[in-house]
Order: sequence, then structure tokens, then C-alpha cells
Amino acid sequence: MSIFANVDMAPGDPILGLTETYRADPRKEKVNLGVGIYVDDAGKVPVLEAVRRVGETLAHANAPSSYLPIDGLAAYNRETQKLVFGADSALLAAGRVATAQTIGGSGALRVGADLLKQVLGDKAHLAASKPTWGNHHAVFKAAGFKLSDYRYYDDASHGLDFAGMLEDLGKLEPGTVVLLHACCHNPTGVDPSAAQWQQIAALLKDRGLLPFVDMAYQGFDKDAVADATAVRVLADSGIPAFVVANSYSKSFSLYGERVGALSFVGADRGEAERLLSHIKTTIRTIYSSPATHGGKLVAGVLESPELHALWERELGAMRERIHAMRAAFVDKLAALGAPDFGFVNAQAGMFSYSGLSKAQVDRLREEYAIYALSSGRICVAALNTGNIDYVTRAVAAVCR
Ligand SMILES: Cc1ncc(COP(=O)(O)O)c(C=O)c1O
Repeated sequence: MSIFANVDMAPGDPILGLTETYRADPRKEKVNLGVGIYVDDAGKVPVLEAVRRVGETLAHANAPSSYLPIDGLAAYNRETQKLVFGADSALLAAGRVATAQTIGGSGALRVGADLLKQVLGDKAHLAASKPTWGNHHAVFKAAGFKLSDYRYYDDASHGLDFAGMLEDLGKLEPGTVVLLHACCHNPTGVDPSAAQWQQIAALLKDRGLLPFVDMAYQGFDKDAVADATAVRVLADSGIPAFVVANSYSKSFSLYGERVGALSFVGADRGEAERLLSHIKTTIRTIYSSPATHGGKLVAGVLESPELHALWERELGAMRERIHAMRAAFVDKLAALGAPDFGFVNAQAGMFSYSGLSKAQVDRLREEYAIYALSSGRICVAALNTGNIDYVTRAVAAVCR
């Protein structure tokens, strides 16, 4: 008898499981609004020209594939710090930021969670928005955290329950880690305004809470600078310490290269140096060092003023296409006499909490081969000029 005979089947990932069902669906006209991937108007994951050019140079260089340092490529970390904190950041000038290249944004979350657990011990407690990306709970739970949530999304207004959020954050024990989405909140698409971030930062500082900012969609709402407002506000707030996990999966369309970074902000240069030493020992015990190719692609783009500018334009084009699809979704549904979906225009990033019920989502899948999450989350970045009429007609039908 095998040692593994009693191992049960693990529950499948709801989002990836939905994609498998979608792939197996034999119907010709089908649309996957479930997964968080940006596709272009032809339904393809784009290869950004700025990235392609660096890739071409790398291919010609034919460099041997040695190990990277534990914390990754120095140029990658330097450019990441500038993008996340701002080139003129006082925190960077003061040497208060410790950054390491990681295996995607997910790797940054896990390394960060593991390190925080080492520091906080039995007190490790994460408060995340209700709702949040499902993997947040899974990652912090696996790292040994207790979990709770704070109010965030307001069903009635399809917007932010800001008063509820502040009230819940205000009740947390000092030292609680508070997970915040920098922008393009997944799954709702609802973000605090700059003024609200100021209030949130002041409260976090007053209560002695530790912000952990997850920035997976920088540049998908306004631009790379404006979308980092949460980080910049925290930096200016005088809060002594916070953490940022960022991902280039979406902003560079490099999903499979697993490019992310983890930054710990400490009270001073010495604290940052000590934190970096622990980030490195944590990485060493999980995957030893990050992957070379994706790191070189991102660093190559960000380091070159010309390619950096080209990337910003390409990111802008992705963003504009999403905005256009939001507007088309809202307008076409209005023209079809559906209930008002105007709130979708106010939401940011790839996702929208559409307000569709589970029963309506089920009907979309069963009757129209349109796949969305049972929460009603749809990926607006999967809409295109070829499927928008089909999708809006189907949505209007299930709303009737
Ligand atoms: C909110 C959020 N954080 C982190 C990630 C992880 O990004 P990565 O694919 O780089 O691991 C995602 C990816 O979907 C996400 O939506």
C-alpha cells in the first residue's frame, strides 16, 4: 500500500478550474470572462514591442544561464524601486527600501508573508478587504497567519464602503498586517481615491498597523505613476514601515516569465539592510534564486529611456482598450434596455464586479457559453469588438 493512499484530492482552484471547463466547451461561440489576463482585440495575449526588442538582443547575446543572486538582478531591483516608489523618492534616497526580485507577484506575497510570520510569530494576523483575490487568503494562511477581513465593497452602490473600511481598520490590534490593493482592486475594480488613501494611511499609522500593499496592475487604471498613489501616500505619511509586492505579469504581458518583486520599507538604512538579509534567507529556503530571462526583459525595458517610453505607450494602449470596452459594455446594455450598468465605467483595471447574481452567471455559461466567476466578477480585458455584441445581448437577456 502506498504511503499516499490516503491523500485526498485537493480542491481545485475556482478560477483555473473555470478555464478548464471553458476549454472543454465544444460550442463555437464562447467567451472566457473568468481569468485575469489582458488580451488584445483579436483575443490574443500581446507581445509588447518594447519587450520583444530586449528579447531579440538577449537572443543574439546568447549568454550562458548562470544563477542570479538570491535577491535577483541588481538592475531589475533598482528599476523596480524607481517605478514603485518614484525616481525622486525620499525613502530611496534614505536607503530605507530593501527590494528583491521574486517569482511573480505571488512569490513576493509568499516570501513577504513567510518573513512577517518569522517576525510576528503567534501574533501574525492578516486583515484583507472583503472581498479580495482568493490567493491572498491561501498564501497568508499557508504562511501561518490568522485571517480576518475588513469591509470594502458596497453592493448597493457598487462602490467603496469607505466608512465601513475605516471603522473596521480602526478596530484592529496594533501590529496587524493590513493587505491593500494599490489599484485596480481584484475582484471588484473599486479603488479608494487619493484623498481616501491619505485618510487610510493616517489611520494605519495612528493604529500601529503594518500595510502590505499588493500592486499587480500598475498602469492599468491611469498610468504607472498615478496608479502608485497608495505607495506614494504611505511613503509620505511618516509611517515607519510597510511592505510592497508588485508584479509585472500584466503590465509587461509576461505572465509565464514570473516577474515580480518584494520591497520592505524600514525605519532607516540599517533596518532596511537587516530586512534584506532576511528576505534573502527566506528566498533561499523556498526557491533559492529567481528566474533570469524575465528579469532581464523587464530590466532591459526599464533601463532604456527609449524602451521605457515605448512600454509606457504600449501599457497606455492596453489601458485605453479596456476603458473603451467598459464604455461599450455600458452603452450597449443601455441601448438594449438592460438595467443601468453605468457603475462599470467608474471601476478600474481588468475587473468589474458586474452585480450579476450567481444564477445569472450560471445562465450565461449554460445558455451562452460565457464564463464569469460566480461572484459576478468579469474580466473586462477579455471583451473585444468581436465578442462585445454577443456578450451584451446575453447579459441583457439574463437580466430580463
Ligand atoms: C491582486 C493580485 N495580486 C497578485 C497577483 C499575482 O501576480 P503574479 O501572476 O505575478 O504572480 C495577481 C494575479 O492575478 C493578482 O490579481
